[in-house]
Amino acid sequence: MIPISKPVLGKEEFKAVEEVLESGMLAQGDVVKEFEDKFAAYIGVNYAVATNSGTAALHTALASIGIRNGDEVITTSFSFFATASCVLMQNAKPIFVDIDSRTYNISQSEIEDKISERTKAIIPVHLYGQPCKMKEIMDIAEEHNLTVIEDAAQAHGAEYDGKKVGFIGDIAVFSFYSTKNIIAGEGGMITTNDERIAERAKMIRNHGQRERYLHECLGYNYRMTNIAAAIGLAQLKKLDKLNERRINNARYYNKRLNVDKPYVAPNAKHVFHQYTIRVKERDKFLEHLEKNGVGYGIYYPVPLSRQPLFNSGSYFREAELASKEVVSIPVHPALSKEDVKRVAEVVNVYE
Ligand SMILES: Cc1ncc(COP(=O)(O)O)c(C=O)c1O
Repeated sequence: MIPISKPVLGKEEFKAVEEVLESGMLAQGDVVKEFEDKFAAYIGVNYAVATNSGTAALHTALASIGIRNGDEVITTSFSFFATASCVLMQNAKPIFVDIDSRTYNISQSEIEDKISERTKAIIPVHLYGQPCKMKEIMDIAEEHNLTVIEDAAQAHGAEYDGKKVGFIGDIAVFSFYSTKNIIAGEGGMITTNDERIAERAKMIRNHGQRERYLHECLGYNYRMTNIAAAIGLAQLKKLDKLNERRINNARYYNKRLNVDKPYVAPNAKHVFHQYTIRVKERDKFLEHLEKNGVGYGIYYPVPLSRQPLFNSGSYFREAELASKEVVSIPVHPALSKEDVKRVAEVVNVYE
């Protein structure tokens, strides 16, 4: 079976973890600080705050800008659950928008229709590793005085108009879950240029404390461990190379596959967290992949707008269609040339 994802771990990760274990300081400490500093430098922002998951990073980001009961946050109808569940965690309401059928990202032209007096923020998600149309989104946000939180959980190293995602919005969040472009087992990161937001985020991830045992606001235990940070640091050094391998695998598929392939916007550097094709009779196609030993993923079979929890009552045509037709095939950097060739052959045989 060729798996849909597989981490690339080398001697560096093993050695880094061993050093942390030997140091005896396993919880959040100097290694986390170093990971934050190096990640901030990579993205090109002043501050990075590490957390123990991307979900924790999103929740912390929303809390740190004061999202609360009665507020509305506009986001895409087609993403992972956490993009919208974190809004509920602050007792606020996610307001969904349909997607662009080509990029699967939030349809920026439909955002303004959803803005109300209660709207406080927009969460664009760079789905599958392709940046959203950030210029348009930032313009809307500026005009309506809204905060933009980029959900870059799937897009480490992706660029829009030559700028790294995570640098463009007011805040961004990343995930280091084990299938992501770089991993730490579990982990997350907030990036921002706003010192106040960064300070607030640091408090929220640590029980609302600035000073030990003095709790100024509601906070949580969202701290990253030194063990996770050690893996993250080793992975960060390889990020560009790992992304390059994903992009090369995608290029190969683009040349060879005879199916509906991913569209890449002209001003976008897509880092192919997923290589996602569309097929009409998906169940039959999936059976074919399974029979031939090719792993796959469906991201996502039910749009956020139709998740029972959100009970949004909305129907979005493009998100619905995508949820029925998308299939992600292996594109990760652990694939051999033979694997990529085999995947292409299996996909192409199906007709
Ligand atoms: C778009 C998106 N947002 C948020 C998250 C949450 O990240 P984590 O799994 O690290 O909590 C993920 C991870 O799957 C994601 O894909």
